[in-house]
Amino acid sequence: NVVLIVLLFFTYLWGSIPVGYLVVYRIAGKNILEHGSGNIGSTNVGRIVGKKWSLFTQLLDMLKGLLPVALFLVFSGQQHPRTGMYVYLFGLAAILGHNFSIFLKFNGGKGVNTTLGAAVLLAPVAVFCAVAMFFVIKKVFKYVSLGSMMLGTIMPVVEYIQNGISYTFYFLLLCLFLILLRHRNNIRRLLNRSENKA
Ligand code: G3P
Repeated sequence: NVVLIVLLFFTYLWGSIPVGYLVVYRIAGKNILEHGSGNIGSTNVGRIVGKKWSLFTQLLDMLKGLLPVALFLVFSGQQHPRTGMYVYLFGLAAILGHNFSIFLKFNGGKGVNTTLGAAVLLAPVAVFCAVAMFFVIKKVFKYVSLGSMMLGTIMPVVEYIQNGISYTFYFLLLCLFLILLRHRNNIRRLLNRSENKA
């Protein structure tokens, strides 16, 4: 289906917009890839240009995941998101765009906010539990990356407990895989105790 492939490609391009990179460049004239953790995500934006812009980046990164999923649900007339698998492809295309941005030579972020945006309509309970877990981990251990990885882990677990095996479950499992893959350096730093606190 050519239309589907074209739409998915545009979704990938949309997800590729490197919000954090653009924000830091416009506000501070700096290349975010060379500052802090070098990540384009909202956490690193906060380190360089402060909380307000971190939140701004976070909301737009979430929107990158939310919008394609919402548009698909509206235009396909799909009432119940748990039928059909196309909606997950749109979520995934946005996340892959964010993580492997065509505008950054296939470099990119870690996909946590974009995953939350993509998942919130498909698995609201799992997203809610995961975000709550994130705040607890961040408060206790002070590592955003540890919170992010736990957030990614909780989502498929809650989805499984709530609804068993479904496309949503597999989608969240794939999101977890991508989150862990993109946190490779954080895992290394956590293990040798050199990870950034907050
Ligand atoms: O979602 C990204 C976060 O988990 C880690 O960001 O900049 O500390 O690598 P950073």
